[in-house]
Amino acid sequence: MTVISIANAKGGAGKTTVALLLAMEFAQKGEKVVLFDCDPLAFAAKWHRLPGAVDAIYVVTGITFANLGGNLRAQQDQATHIIIDLSGARDALIALAAGLSDLVLIPVQGCAMDAQGAAHVLDLIGQVESNARSHINHAVVLTRVSSFVTTRALRSVKALLASRNIALLDTPIIERSAYRDMFEHGGTLYTIDEARVSNLAKAQRNMQSLALEVQRLVAAPAHPQSSGPFARMCQRAPADVPLSQKAFEHPLTPRPAQAFQLDTVHADR
Ligand SMILES: Nc1ncnc2c1ncn2[C@@H]1O[C@H](COP(=O)(O)OP(=O)(O)OP(=O)(O)O)[C@@H](O)[C@H]1O
Ligand SMILES: [Mg+2]
Repeated sequence: MTVISIANAKGGAGKTTVALLLAMEFAQKGEKVVLFDCDPLAFAAKWHRLPGAVDAIYVVTGITFANLGGNLRAQQDQATHIIIDLSGARDALIALAAGLSDLVLIPVQGCAMDAQGAAHVLDLIGQVESNARSHINHAVVLTRVSSFVTTRALRSVKALLASRNIALLDTPIIERSAYRDMFEHGGTLYTIDEARVSNLAKAQRNMQSLALEVQRLVAAPAHPQSSGPFARMCQRAPADVPLSQKAFEHPLTPRPAQAFQLDTVHADR
């Protein structure tokens, strides 16, 4: 079982879209996915209630700092993947989820406001890493990228991020009407009415490539139940100790987000 968190402190960065698309892609491969919807407005849960819901995806709402650990424990035997769709500006929950995840994906659109939200998450991850003295596997994924952006422009963004020790997924999420359509009408990229959206096959290929890359990043270890941050935490903490108490031996001290610009992604548009 793997735990994947999707985080960006900025609202509207594309977190729920990435979370749902990944969930659909894993479900399409026959894997069981539990989606933790941390947004009080519960958009993922609303999508799940629309026609065309997928049995292999189960959505849990009402996730809080206090109950995240318990919910992970409750779902760990049911799910191949637990995807945590974090809402913006809830630092303690973001930090706790990051500390329990096999991978934190940070969706970033090529605008400065979004990049500040990403920088805030990167800063939180840095603090959890230093408090827990362990590495958190994390990477930025570019979202709503124009299909005209060149490989060269993306390479230069990757180099820029690498110079700050930040990994960037090779697969950007392209701006596609199919990704908006499923929110409004329900269903998945594989059940959408082809007549309603353009470039559906390209949208599917984009997601297949994203899911492959994500799966490589969280590649199943030899003993899935005995490794990964969440599983290690379970081994250390007796079942009746809230994981939130084990996660933070030191309280988080807020630090200003570092400057972080992705202007170069627009370079070749
Ligand atoms: N790749 C994309 N192509 C087309 N539309 C997109 C794409 N990514 C996101 N959107 C649209 O952008 C809007 C915001 O996306 P989304 O709800 O995923 O952001 P969010 O980060 O989850 O927001 P919040 O912080 O409010 O939870 C939605 O209308 C969504 O349909
Ligand atoms: Mg959302």
